Amino acid sequence: MDTFNTLAQTITNRRSTKPTLLNGKKIDDRQIIQLLELANWAPTHGSTEPWRFIVYGGKAVQQFCHQHAELYKQHTPPEKFTPAKYDKQQHNGDKASHLIAVYMQRGSNPNITVLEEICATAAAVQNILLGAEALDIAVLWSTGGMTMQPAMKEYLGLGEEDTMIGLLFMGYTDEPARPGKRIPAASKTKWVTAIQQ
Ligand SMILES: Cc1cc2nc3c(=O)[nH]c(=O)nc-3n(C[C@H](O)[C@H](O)[C@H](O)COP(=O)(O)O)c2cc1C
Repeated sequence: MDTFNTLAQTITNRRSTKPTLLNGKKIDDRQIIQLLELANWAPTHGSTEPWRFIVYGGKAVQQFCHQHAELYKQHTPPEKFTPAKYDKQQHNGDKASHLIAVYMQRGSNPNITVLEEICATAAAVQNILLGAEALDIAVLWSTGGMTMQPAMKEYLGLGEEDTMIGLLFMGYTDEPARPGKRIPAASKTKWVTAIQQ
């Protein structure tokens, strides 16, 4: 029961933290490696292990964000482009310690669907989020800006059938934990305890 309570606390206490609320303190690379090892234990149908990570640390975080802003500029028609959005992308990682681009690498087993491989990679992300919570590391799983656009896939060198899952902005925060908000699980659950005649 202790194990359950500890896990339940980690799961329910985990909150997303906007990168602008990070404080600039650096995460030890060894902790990032520990989190990636947890990710690697996600469930995987057919043992395809489709999760892939590109880890940015140090100045590479800001360089990536600059490139993200440039992708936005290059792939947005002038009438839709706003300097505020460009600026947001460019400075989004200013206080982040690491940024991890997560994608699903499509395997060659035709019996395993794309959806299954995306699900497995999302489960790998959740392992990272929960491990981070246990280490007091703040994370935002983001699909914002150009993250899910073809231009990002091309920039990161993904294969045609690979899928971006998101960007993880990681660091530490001094902000107090936000209260979590969820509609009760019971309202999303249907129990079947006997076949109705
Ligand atoms: C696939 C996915 C993509 C997300 N993308 C964004 C995003 O682009 N920007 C953002 O602020 N939050 C993003 N989030 C985080 C959600 O906003 C957050 O999980 C939600 O507000 C609930 O808050 P909590 O994670 O603190 O419980 C994303 C979450 C998921 C699962």
